[in-house]
Amino acid sequence: MVKDINKNKYDLKIKELIRHNKLYYDRSSPSISDSQYDKLKKEIIELENKFPYLVSKNSPSKNIGFIPSKNFEKFKHKIPMMSLSNAFDKEDLKNFEKKIFNFLNDRIKFNYSVEPKIDGISASLTYINKKLKYGVSRGDGRTGEIITENLKTIKDIPLEIKNKDFPNEIEIRGEVFIKNKDFTNIKDKFANPRNAASGSLRQKDPSETKKIPLNFIAYTFGYFENDFLKYQSDFLIYLKKWGFKTNKDNKVLSSIEELINFHKKFENKRYNLDYDLDGLVYKVNDLDLQKRLGFTSNAPRWAIAHKFSADSAFTKINNIEIQIGRTGALTPVAKVEPVNIGGVVVSNATLHNEDEIIRKDIRTGDIVKIERAGDVIPHVVEVDKSKRNNSSKSFKFPTKCPSCGSNTIKEFNRATKKYDAVRRCTNEGFGCERISIEKIKHFISKEALNIDGFGKKVVEKFWNLKLIKKPQDIFKLDFNLIKNLEGWGELSVKNLKNSIQKSSNTSLQRFIYSLGIRHIGIENAKLISENVKNISTFIEIIKKKEFEKFINIDGIGETQINSLKAFFSEQSNFRILIELQNILKIQSPNLIKNGILKNKTFMFTGKLDGISRAEAKSLIENNSGTTVSNISKSLDYLVIGEKPTKRKVDQAKVLKIEIISKNDLLKLLNSVN
Ligand code: IVH
Repeated sequence: MVKDINKNKYDLKIKELIRHNKLYYDRSSPSISDSQYDKLKKEIIELENKFPYLVSKNSPSKNIGFIPSKNFEKFKHKIPMMSLSNAFDKEDLKNFEKKIFNFLNDRIKFNYSVEPKIDGISASLTYINKKLKYGVSRGDGRTGEIITENLKTIKDIPLEIKNKDFPNEIEIRGEVFIKNKDFTNIKDKFANPRNAASGSLRQKDPSETKKIPLNFIAYTFGYFENDFLKYQSDFLIYLKKWGFKTNKDNKVLSSIEELINFHKKFENKRYNLDYDLDGLVYKVNDLDLQKRLGFTSNAPRWAIAHKFSADSAFTKINNIEIQIGRTGALTPVAKVEPVNIGGVVVSNATLHNEDEIIRKDIRTGDIVKIERAGDVIPHVVEVDKSKRNNSSKSFKFPTKCPSCGSNTIKEFNRATKKYDAVRRCTNEGFGCERISIEKIKHFISKEALNIDGFGKKVVEKFWNLKLIKKPQDIFKLDFNLIKNLEGWGELSVKNLKNSIQKSSNTSLQRFIYSLGIRHIGIENAKLISENVKNISTFIEIIKKKEFEKFINIDGIGETQINSLKAFFSEQSNFRILIELQNILKIQSPNLIKNGILKNKTFMFTGKLDGISRAEAKSLIENNSGTTVSNISKSLDYLVIGEKPTKRKVDQAKVLKIEIISKNDLLKLLNSVN
């Protein structure tokens, strides 16, 4: 079994990190310098970014809390630091309110203190006799770690409060966070701003924390002897008066309708802010009511977090780049100001094609809304035209291929009678650098030759080093040279060699697909391979330019035939085919060769009753028959269903082809099964 080199590498680094964490936090005797430790973390994050399938619960990108450490003294919170329940829609909010009414047994009227929920790290500050005495992390909510010295480095945290009305003993809570603009400077070290805040607070040496521009916004209290405040909103006003930073967008609202409207507005506004928000917090404003409501086992009854949908964000397009795909398609990509969308920092978004840019009038410098759903490439949803500069100009889509300078075209689609939305480079062969690279990436991909350990990055690297120019070069690599390249070693080279060797034994279907012919995907490659049955016949047909023969394959049409013609009209493509045929061991498809329908051909017209075309087709093929899509003298049966094409039936009659029904076909099959 060939091991996944990257996973091995990743796992080793994670192991290494755990070991150093233990040495640093538990034994206080680090064996590497801080910068070496940072480098290790950075390498792990880089590997995760490159190979998103690599995950570990011990990854520095996952660790947002504090690693329980002997370096920091423990501190039991007087009042636990709980989390908030979440609401996602109106229904959840109604439920939240209903529970309050039920608990109070009264449909009492109250207001909400509405506060932006900053996505940072919460901290608690205990002031005794107006001086900051303890700064504590949340920890597990009950016990935190004393990180006073680290917190003291944050300029927003007052060390002493002079105001007369400042209580003698009070615990103030709030959020430590880093602004997005400051995060960009240190983004190589941390996965997102929240991690950056957490990591900086975790530093053993406060002078290290001081280097990171952290901020603090205060929003609640743990405890204090309150005899003068009635409302949370008043408390926020006092916090400000005492010298704490509070959120300028805090508000008081009085109904669920108002909350929903504000949430809607804020959801867009949040992208103009310089820090990450993951929702709004709604708190019962009346502090007496809060007291009455109290807490469930993990959250207050008097507050809820109304989350934002995590999958979109507004950001600025810094540049529009044109990427060229394997089939020559020119895809515009927006290079955007990095923005955190649902925990992932996005800096590229696809703009799909030329038509899409025109339709949405997307320009460099625009503020755009980007959506990201799961693993799908982020895309631009809309332009905020109100933010557009007067000097902004429409984007000029290139008419020449930016990679090879060839002409580009938009094809006319005869079926839709429209020009294609996609503009393409007209270079069919390996004359275009970007197309060549993409073709090689396709060649090594999972569904094609499936060369383990030969990822897209490797293709780019080997291409740049001029080790590969064509797919066949993969089988002529100089492994002694690769062994000495950065990032490679004996073991990884051995693994690569093995997987290349293994992949050279492939199926005709994979091989046809691997050539990267436009419109010849996995399914069509399968159809062709089953039709030609072996590589020699395939090559013969191409040599003699008898592409029309493929038209007989049910599923292959004019589009595919034209594409095959165009592809092989380029001599270099044909040469690659021949060279690869000499290098590879191409297995013929495993057809059931001696079924009862052997040498019999079938064609369908009309809708079959009670059985799909696909199923009928596979029944025929499972018994060694073939299905075709064109009538010729050599056709054995025309199977007719409902509303058959008259022309086909007439033609069959003329050619004296046997016309059968679906039931006749089933009878034929039953007689054999
Ligand atoms: S009040 C009992 N107010 O959200 C919890 N929390 O999920 C009271 N947060 O750990 C918390 N902004 O880190 C509160 N204006 C705000 C907040 C806020 C952010 C965070 C905080 C807390 C988490 C709860």
